Amino acid sequence: MATQIAEQIRVGSIDELKTGGCRVVTGGGHAIAVFHHDGRVYAVDNRCPHMGFPLDRGSVKDGILTCHWHNARFDLASGGTFNPFADDVRSFPVTVVDGEVWVDPQPAQRDETQHWSGRLRDGMEHNIRLVTAKSVLGLHAAGADYRVPLRIGADFGATYTAAGWGAAMTILTATANILPHLDADDRAVALYQGLLHVARECAGRPPRFVVEPLPTGETRPEVFKQWFRDFIDVRAEDAAERCLRTAVELGLPPGHIADMIFAASTDHIYLDAGHTLDFANKAFELLDHIGWEHASQTLTSLVHGMARARRSHELSAWRHPIDLASLVWQAREELPALLEQGRQATGWNGEDALAREMLGESPSDILDAIKAAIKAGATAEQLGSAVAYAAFLRMAHFHISNEFGDWDTVHNTLTAANALHRALQRAPSPELLRGVLDVAMSIYLDRFLNMPAQRIPETGGEPADGTQLLAEIRERMDVRQQVEEVSHLVSRYLTGSCEPDALVAALGRAMLNEDAGFHSFQIVDAGFSQYRQRRGTESGRHVLIGMARYLAAHAPTSRAVGQTYQIALRLHRGEEIFRE
Ligand code: FES
Repeated sequence: MATQIAEQIRVGSIDELKTGGCRVVTGGGHAIAVFHHDGRVYAVDNRCPHMGFPLDRGSVKDGILTCHWHNARFDLASGGTFNPFADDVRSFPVTVVDGEVWVDPQPAQRDETQHWSGRLRDGMEHNIRLVTAKSVLGLHAAGADYRVPLRIGADFGATYTAAGWGAAMTILTATANILPHLDADDRAVALYQGLLHVARECAGRPPRFVVEPLPTGETRPEVFKQWFRDFIDVRAEDAAERCLRTAVELGLPPGHIADMIFAASTDHIYLDAGHTLDFANKAFELLDHIGWEHASQTLTSLVHGMARARRSHELSAWRHPIDLASLVWQAREELPALLEQGRQATGWNGEDALAREMLGESPSDILDAIKAAIKAGATAEQLGSAVAYAAFLRMAHFHISNEFGDWDTVHNTLTAANALHRALQRAPSPELLRGVLDVAMSIYLDRFLNMPAQRIPETGGEPADGTQLLAEIRERMDVRQQVEEVSHLVSRYLTGSCEPDALVAALGRAMLNEDAGFHSFQIVDAGFSQYRQRRGTESGRHVLIGMARYLAAHAPTSRAVGQTYQIALRLHRGEEIFRE
């Protein structure tokens, strides 16, 4: 009788195993269930890969092992699952020597990044959030860069819905943008949530088929720009998509491609209430993360929404009682001359003052203030910054006596303003500058939500206990409608010489703790971006107050998304989920 085989675990005699049917042994960091079934011996990890139920308590029939918690079934020989919501369970080699059963506790080596990338695709295809969460954690543990899961999610989202770019791809991009500002422990959960939204949005939808590029000899960027704008203008979706794909695949520079998309996004007034420009800007931000080689499929996913976008000049609010659309068209006409005059001027520095003028009561005065700034040499970036700050001030002054749904009205303008600012930083152009006029009018239209205007806390500058304040903010987020309390705590933190990065990370975590949707991700992304450019200033404090007020108004939720992630995390750490 063999007493020892190098690096293998003795299970017992074959007769004992036959009698008992199953025996559990431990070794190599695993609990291994060894089964005798139908004249053969099999060994698999005893933890069900779904949620850790002991598989030795399952049943075996016809070579199939069934877990008795959620009934996942596995091929006993390979460990492969018949139920994608679980996962393949690891199997181990078994030998029988002189009537003794031995198991090798070292499972076959596998490429962890490849394995978890495949599982992530499975999770997204079947819209199974536990698999998605486990895959993100598995990739992280394998040392994969955040761009590995991000690319998988981006390619999936740009392909598996005929509706093209939507809220979920925007969320996915927002998660990538905010990662550097989060605590290290929160990065995987952020990615998981972004991927989850993409899988959910694509579930049950027809895929998007690739339109081949034109077999054209045309290579002039200005021709593609004109074609693209004309096709979007007449809502010729297929033609616009083929034009854009051709331009990208011809290798036109990213700046030219951005210019043509941003111009088409602003040819009509405030397309789709700012979503068109927001989505376009986000698509370029996503490419900053995953690489320009994904541009063709990513950017063409925008076309469906661009061609079908609602044009705000068709909306009653933009025509009555004041014809805002006509005021904007007229101001647009004046832009070339104003820009020419502005080229002679230098040193304009009135962003904050202009932002406050944008909160005024007269649309004509607002447009005049913008025109005056352009004439005085304001850069496109400065104008974008002013409009973004004005939109955050609307949020900071939003009065909670308004209807709850109106948070989203203010929010919508805010994200459009932030997108415009970022787009102007990327590819400033006279065409894109028209967006400043549009967003300024949306800020004007939201003025009733600041009646009365909520006062922004003006807490004093005595040093504060940052750790204590962050704990209080966390507690307030567990209680409904602590908007003003959170506003004061954030203000106190920022005026109390506390470290702003910790506050930013804490607000990011507050969002991730909830079942956060499109708007929450958008505002956190916008808030982080705008604060980064205003760090340590009064306007920066107003940005974070506005953002925190929105989060506090929308917390707490049922927090189901986070619960799934916590299960995946505990499984990943080898903790027990099932307890009797
Ligand atoms: S099916 Fe095994 S734990 Fe859920």
